[in-house]
Amino acid sequence: MKIAVIGAGNMGSAVVAGIAGSLADVEIAVSNPSVAKLDRLKNRFPSITTTASNTQACVGASVVILAVKPWILPGVVDELRAVIERDMPAVVSMAGGIGLDDLERMLGEGCSPALFYVIPNTAAAVGESMTFMAQRRASGEQVSAVTRLFGACGKAVMVEERMMNAGMVTASCGIAFVMRYMRAMEQGAVELGLRPDEARQAIIQTVLGAAKLLEATGAHPEDAIDAVTTAGGLTIRGLNAMETGGMTAAVEAGMRAAMPAGRQS
Ligand SMILES: NC(=O)c1ccc[n+]([C@@H]2O[C@H](COP(=O)([O-])OP(=O)(O)OC[C@H]3O[C@@H](n4cnc5c(N)ncnc54)[C@H](OP(=O)(O)O)[C@@H]3O)[C@@H](O)[C@H]2O)c1
Repeated sequence: MKIAVIGAGNMGSAVVAGIAGSLADVEIAVSNPSVAKLDRLKNRFPSITTTASNTQACVGASVVILAVKPWILPGVVDELRAVIERDMPAVVSMAGGIGLDDLERMLGEGCSPALFYVIPNTAAAVGESMTFMAQRRASGEQVSAVTRLFGACGKAVMVEERMMNAGMVTASCGIAFVMRYMRAMEQGAVELGLRPDEARQAIIQTVLGAAKLLEATGAHPEDAIDAVTTAGGLTIRGLNAMETGGMTAAVEAGMRAAMPAGRQS
């Protein structure tokens, strides 16, 4: 199976790294205007082919992944329309906020390949993305192929398109929300006397541990909190002070604020 990745920026490179690192049967062609980015990728993954020509990358591909900025996408779709019409690859757009109707309009009448709208997060760079995907007109085989590709970059789930914004806020914006929490923990730990480097390592391991505990046990976070909260103890004092500061309300408000306007459902 051959795939084309159009755009070798942060997300395009992360997806190439995930796929090239674990799916040996997938042939990858990557295109990007600046050669330096292509060379960097080629040095890391010698088996990929690189080119400055988007159409060249797409020839013979059964999946075309568009990893360009949303405002670049219409021009790229224009450029690729003929090859898409001819070869009918599954077309995967990662452009945030560009839904399947938008993509359909860009392709125009008479060009109706299987479409996927896919939103990974930046942890794709280390194979730990949480990726939400929606599709239109895809066969079972195409759904399996695209799920396998993005599964190589972390976890990937197919949802109805109306859930994509909630997924994007939770996982794609969410990674920044988790990091802001980690920054706050770091500031607190330094105030209490840990060196910044000690604090960061401790927080990374604590967050990893918390995530793995919830993953392994399937526990509700509040039940896992109960396990470390002694009546009259220190943890509950800390938790209550955080809630007095508005922690839960602030997180919920932040997530609502990040939801694209007019697309709450
Ligand atoms: N970052 C995230 O967390 C995230 C999460 C989910 C989805 N996304 C989406 O992923 C897409 C890419 O984001 P990014 O963060 O990877 O952006 P990025 O780092 O700026 O990468 C975009 C790449 O597209 C290349 N490019 C520009 N014009 C092109 C053209 N005509 N043909 C082919 N390639 C072209 C750029 O090349 P040059 O630099 O050489 O011009 C750049 O390498 C966006 O649509 C974004 O909404 C991002």
